[in-house]
Amino acid sequence: MATQLIVDGTPWLILGGETANTASSDLAYMKTVWPQLARLNLNTVLVAIAWSWVEPAEGTFDFTLVDGLLDGARQNNLRIVFLWFGSWKNGISSFVPAWVKADQQRFPRVQIRSGRSIEVLSTLSEANREADTRAYVAFMRHLKEVDGRNRTCLMIQSQNEVGVLGDSRDRNAAANAAFAGEVPKDLMGHLSKQRAQLYPDLAGRWAAAGGKTAGTWEDVFGAGPATDEIFMAWNYARYMERMTAAGKAEYPLPVFTNTWIVQPEDRGPGDYPSGGPEPLTLDIWKAGAPSIDFNAPDIYLPNFTDWVGWFHRPDNPLFVPESRADAAGVANAFYTIGQHAGIGYSPFGIDNTSRMVALRPGPDTGAPDPKDLDNLPLPKGYALLRQMTPLILDAQAKGKIAAVSLSAEKQTQVVPLGDYEVNFEVRRNRRNPAEVPAPGYALVAAAGPDEYFVAGSDIQVTFTPRTPGPEIAGLAAIEAGRFESGRWIPNRQLSGDDVLLDYDLAGAAARNQSGSGLRFNPDGPTVQRVKLYRYR
Ligand code: DGJ
Repeated sequence: MATQLIVDGTPWLILGGETANTASSDLAYMKTVWPQLARLNLNTVLVAIAWSWVEPAEGTFDFTLVDGLLDGARQNNLRIVFLWFGSWKNGISSFVPAWVKADQQRFPRVQIRSGRSIEVLSTLSEANREADTRAYVAFMRHLKEVDGRNRTCLMIQSQNEVGVLGDSRDRNAAANAAFAGEVPKDLMGHLSKQRAQLYPDLAGRWAAAGGKTAGTWEDVFGAGPATDEIFMAWNYARYMERMTAAGKAEYPLPVFTNTWIVQPEDRGPGDYPSGGPEPLTLDIWKAGAPSIDFNAPDIYLPNFTDWVGWFHRPDNPLFVPESRADAAGVANAFYTIGQHAGIGYSPFGIDNTSRMVALRPGPDTGAPDPKDLDNLPLPKGYALLRQMTPLILDAQAKGKIAAVSLSAEKQTQVVPLGDYEVNFEVRRNRRNPAEVPAPGYALVAAAGPDEYFVAGSDIQVTFTPRTPGPEIAGLAAIEAGRFESGRWIPNRQLSGDDVLLDYDLAGAAARNQSGSGLRFNPDGPTVQRVKLYRYR
C-alpha cells in the first residue's frame, strides 16, 4: 500500500535533520555536532557533499570529507543522506569547482532575456552534464567501496532546488534552438499515455492549447512563462536522469530531488527556480527522469498540509527534506508520516538548533543543561515517533494510519479509519469552549477491531461507528503509556477529568456522541491506547 524505504531488508522511517549548507565541509565542526544530533533523537542526517569539495582540480578526486562524514555518523549511530551539490544549489551554480566556474566557454551558462549570462550552468550543454556526471559517478563508486556493506548512507539527493532564476527559461543559443524545435516524442508519448492521470495544471494548459500530440513547445502548451517552465523542467530532468542513471549503475541507492516550492509573493517562474519539480511540472519530471525515485518538496510555508498533498501520489512517495524544527515542525512530521505514509521528515539547519541549545549554560554549573535538549519540541516529538516506529511502519504498509494538523483556521477534521470515523478537534477549554484554540496535531493507527493508538498534542479525539449496529462509540478503556522495543507498556488508566469533553450528555447523545474522548495536553506529544465499545 505504501512505498517505504527498505534498509537491510527492513523498513526505515527517517527522523531526520539537515545541516547548514557548508557545515559538512568542516569535519572538526561536525565532530562537535554529531553527538548533539543523536541527542536530538535524529536517526538520519542530511549533509551536503559538493562537487567543488571532491574534485578541486579536474580529474583529481579527494573523498576525505565523504569518509570523515561517514565515520562521524557511524560513531554516533546515525545514518546519512548525502546531498549532491553539483551543477546547481538553489538554482545557482555556486558549488561547482572553480575550474568549471572559470571556463564559461567550455561550461556554458544560462542566458537571460537581457542577453546577460548568470551564474547558472546551462542544462543544454553536454559538457556541463558530462563533467558533473563524471564527478558524481566517481563519488558513487567511492561510496559503494567504503559504505556498500555498512549502508550508513541511505539515499542521495540529486542537486538542490534546481531551476533558472532571473528568467522563466534559458535563452542561450542552444536553448533557443531546442525551444523552437518539436517537443520530444518521448515526452509526448508519456503525456498521451498518462493523459487521464496528469495533474490539472499541466493537463489544463495542454487542453487549452488544443491537446496536440506533436508540435513546438508553444504549439503544444501555448505561449507564456508556464510553457518556458515546462521546457526547463524537461531539460533539467533529462540532465539529471543521465547523472542519476550513471550513478545507479555504480551504486543503486534511492535518489530524490528537492524543490523550492512557489512562494505566495512570486510573480512567475524565475522568481522561484523555473523548471524544478512543481505541481505544474511533476509529470514532466516523471517522463524525463524515471531513475529519480521521488521528487520532494521543501516546505517552510504555513499550508504544509496542502503541499504534501500535492507531492504525494502513487508514483511519488513523500519525503520532506527541508522544513521547520519547532513545535509546528513536529506537527509537520506527524502529518507527513501519518497521513501520507511519509518516508520521513527533516528540518533544515538542524546543527544550528542543537548548537544554540547546547551552548546555553545550565543553571548552576555553567555547563550545558541536557534538559534543554530534552525539552525542545523536536527531540520530544522524535522520541515518541522513535518508540512508535514499528507500529507506524506496519500501519503504513497496511494503510491503517492517518494524521491531522489543526489550528484556529481549521479546528476539526473527520478521518475514516477501520470501523470508525475518528473525529479530531483542537483541544477546547472546557470552561470556555469559545476560546481561540492553539494548533494541535495527532496521528492515529488502527491496532485491531475497536482498538486504536493515538499520539498527539493539544487535541481531542472522539469516534463514530461506520458499520451497522449501535450508533454511539463509548470508551471501554484508555491507557497512557509508551512503547519499549515495539511493545506497549501502559502506565496510567485514563478516565474522569482526563477524558471528559462535555457535561451536556443530552446534546452529545443527540449527536451520537458519549461526551467523552481522548484529550492530549499541550506539553509535547504523548500516546494513548483506546478500546471502544458501542451502545445506543
Ligand atoms: C533552501 C535550500 O535548499 C537550503 O539549502 C537552504 O539554503 C535554505 N533554503 C535556507 O533557508
